[in-house]
Amino acid sequence: MKQPASQSTSGSRQRPGGTGMPLIGQIAKTTQGPMRLISFSFDMTQAVARRRFPLRPGLHCSIYLGPYFIAFIAFIAIRPSSIMAAVLTGWLPPTRENWALTLAVFQISYPLISLLQIPLSWYGMGKTSVDSRLNLPGRVAWILMEAPGFMTLLYMMKTLPQMHGIDDLPWQNRVLAGLFVIHYTYRAIIFPLIQPSMSPIHILVALMAVGFQVLNGTCIGAWLAAYGPVTAEAWAEQSSTGQFVAGIAIFYIGLASNFFHDEELREIRRTEKRRQERILGERAGGNAGGGKTVSVEKHYQVPQAGLFRYVLYAHYLCEWLEWTGFLMAAGWGCAPAWAFLTNEVCAMLPRAVKGKKWYIERFGEDKIRNKWAVLPGVV
Ligand SMILES: NC(=O)c1ccc[n+]([C@@H]2O[C@H](COP(=O)([O-])OP(=O)(O)OC[C@H]3O[C@@H](n4cnc5c(N)ncnc54)[C@H](OP(=O)(O)O)[C@@H]3O)[C@@H](O)[C@H]2O)c1
Repeated sequence: MKQPASQSTSGSRQRPGGTGMPLIGQIAKTTQGPMRLISFSFDMTQAVARRRFPLRPGLHCSIYLGPYFIAFIAFIAIRPSSIMAAVLTGWLPPTRENWALTLAVFQISYPLISLLQIPLSWYGMGKTSVDSRLNLPGRVAWILMEAPGFMTLLYMMKTLPQMHGIDDLPWQNRVLAGLFVIHYTYRAIIFPLIQPSMSPIHILVALMAVGFQVLNGTCIGAWLAAYGPVTAEAWAEQSSTGQFVAGIAIFYIGLASNFFHDEELREIRRTEKRRQERILGERAGGNAGGGKTVSVEKHYQVPQAGLFRYVLYAHYLCEWLEWTGFLMAAGWGCAPAWAFLTNEVCAMLPRAVKGKKWYIERFGEDKIRNKWAVLPGVV
């Protein structure tokens, strides 16, 4: 295996064909032509304005704003691809410096954003979704907002090793990337397709989730592809084989039990669907549903199977276990895995605590009193 460029002191190698110029410099260079045009337009406008022609407002406006409008169109039309390229160079995929910055932003911004859930009563998704023109259909929104995570990670795995001269990533990097993709193939694609129904999701919630996924996919993906341990020696220091295997075992227990508890929630609606169909069938004289459709939208019951006997958000708890296993396998010093786990807990804990209040209001204190929200013995 070649010595990866990421091990060099400069920390990152420029993209082949890249200019090596900093981002601001590249944007400035790209936009030089349009900027001159804007400056010329400005001078012309000033010249016209100085002569103080007695212009009618409409005409005055056209003369004054016209050049700006033309310059704007030129700016957009002439060089969009090079502006895009300048903006994306060094970010997609990121250089080591930009990756470190992305990680810092992810570590700080999303926990803070998640804390806003505590004072806010609004959350435009699931049990608390409300009618809004800005709602997206649940399944579509879910796929669109969850899929960017594993797509970003795959993009990092495809591009970064090549750029850093890494011919062959260690097996640990491939296993962890594979587990991430397995999780998100279920979460982003299979999960929304097999849910009996999903409440609409507000576009703001969906956009926040897209941001989360892109940042997380970038942080973990780039770490696995180039900026984390990329040699057998580096892995020996990062996480022993025993710790790695134990972490993967925990990951699988978490994944399987997360699926099990998701399945229990699905079964509540499937059972309700069968019940409604049976009633319709009986009314129609045994004629399977009598041609009428049933709806299980927003049908909720208190789940009872597995850990749901003790905690209302057992599926969340299992998901945390899953990503704790991932962190353990990746090594306790893996900052992106820490950021992911911390952000998940910060995002889901307030939902679970508020969810418990929702269950109490809906089903009464008696049925919920003995259940924890998400962490048995704690909350
Ligand atoms: N929310 C997050 O921030 C987040 C982050 C990472 C991972 N996840 C994972 O994604 C999965 C879904 O999360 P979520 O926040 O959407 O969970 P959720 O609010 O519990 O909803 C999960 C699904 O089950 C339905 N459902 C919920 N409670 C029900 C009940 N008592 N009876 C019948 N059906 C019920 C919901 O329908 P409605 O849509 O109609 O409410 C939804 O389709 C979980 O496994 C979670 O671990 C969530």
